[in-house]
Amino acid sequence: MNTIRAVVKGVGHYLPERVVPNTEFEKTLDTSDEWIRSRSGIERRHFAAKGEMTSHLAIHAARAALADAAINADQVDAIIVATSTPDQTFPSTATRVQSALGMTTGFAFDVQAVCAGFVYALANANALILSGQASTVLVIGAETFSRLLNWNDRTTCVLFGDGAGALVLQAANGVGTAADRGILATDLHSDGRYNDLLYVDGGVSSTQSTGVLVMEGREIFKHAVQKLAQTAESALAKAGVTDDDVDWVVPHQANLRIIRATAQKMGIPMDRVVVTVQDHGNTSAASIPLAMSVGRARGQIKQGDLLVAEAIGGGLAWGAVVLRW
Ligand code: ACO
Repeated sequence: MNTIRAVVKGVGHYLPERVVPNTEFEKTLDTSDEWIRSRSGIERRHFAAKGEMTSHLAIHAARAALADAAINADQVDAIIVATSTPDQTFPSTATRVQSALGMTTGFAFDVQAVCAGFVYALANANALILSGQASTVLVIGAETFSRLLNWNDRTTCVLFGDGAGALVLQAANGVGTAADRGILATDLHSDGRYNDLLYVDGGVSSTQSTGVLVMEGREIFKHAVQKLAQTAESALAKAGVTDDDVDWVVPHQANLRIIRATAQKMGIPMDRVVVTVQDHGNTSAASIPLAMSVGRARGQIKQGDLLVAEAIGGGLAWGAVVLRW
């Protein structure tokens, strides 16, 4: 049966120049490189420079992905930016990217599902392509979480970083089996009863200020392992494949212990998991496309490989995407 698939044509990423090692936090907080490494796996992260905005990171990543795809911006029908740290309350960061790329056609919008944002954005891009509303979609995850952190809270500020990653997806014909390249299944969830586990204590309609990130780390940890393994398994089942078929798990990069525990629950060895958390920290919606781009550059991810990407974040919102690269 002839089926339209949203196929990855290109990938790219961008990290701000400034690299901040764990030892930097020892100067101002009661913490240590040893604690941060052993509890989270994080060794360093990048922070955006003063004046460097989420759209700037997104534009760099978008250009890299377009170059990798050998596609011009005027061939793109839609841009989706997954972010919780937009340049402005409105308009969308995606429209700033659109303008910087010189695109005067098509449409652009942001998706906000915190750390699950990229998975949500991929599901939206897939739906646009399958419904015929777009044939080439640029999907970007971009964040400047350094702008939301409470620098006096050692339980949160050591965990996050800034960055961006992007994929170019394009419609292609498949035969309707799991052997097709492209997105094979998506699985999305949210449960607003857990709003208080991870939030920013400000906002336009509540405080008219930005606020800072607040997190119940231990509680999130428990939800994460169970929900991530469940959504990944559910997406794999929808795609008609099993754990054994998976070449690469590309998890949200929040904590190495969560990544390991989830892989173990799925019965997938760590040599089939792309791990970048040590170098990037948690870059929220940017973490999965960053990991895909780095995994591709390292020679881990190859054309034809079966990937499952899974993420969870504030909301709680979580989900997974199965795709053949
Ligand atoms: N340095 C030193 N000590 C610290 C630090 C720090 N940076 N942070 C916390 N501690 C202390 C705590 O105060 C606590 O001390 P106490 O026992 O005297 O109270 C002790 O270390 C242990 O704290 P726990 O919270 O139990 O540590 P845990 O092993 O759970 O690790 C962590 C904490 C890393 C936050 C972990 O719970 C975690 O990663 N949770 C998930 C967070 C996550 O994934 N969030 C992202 C998902 S959504 C999104 O990305 C937006």
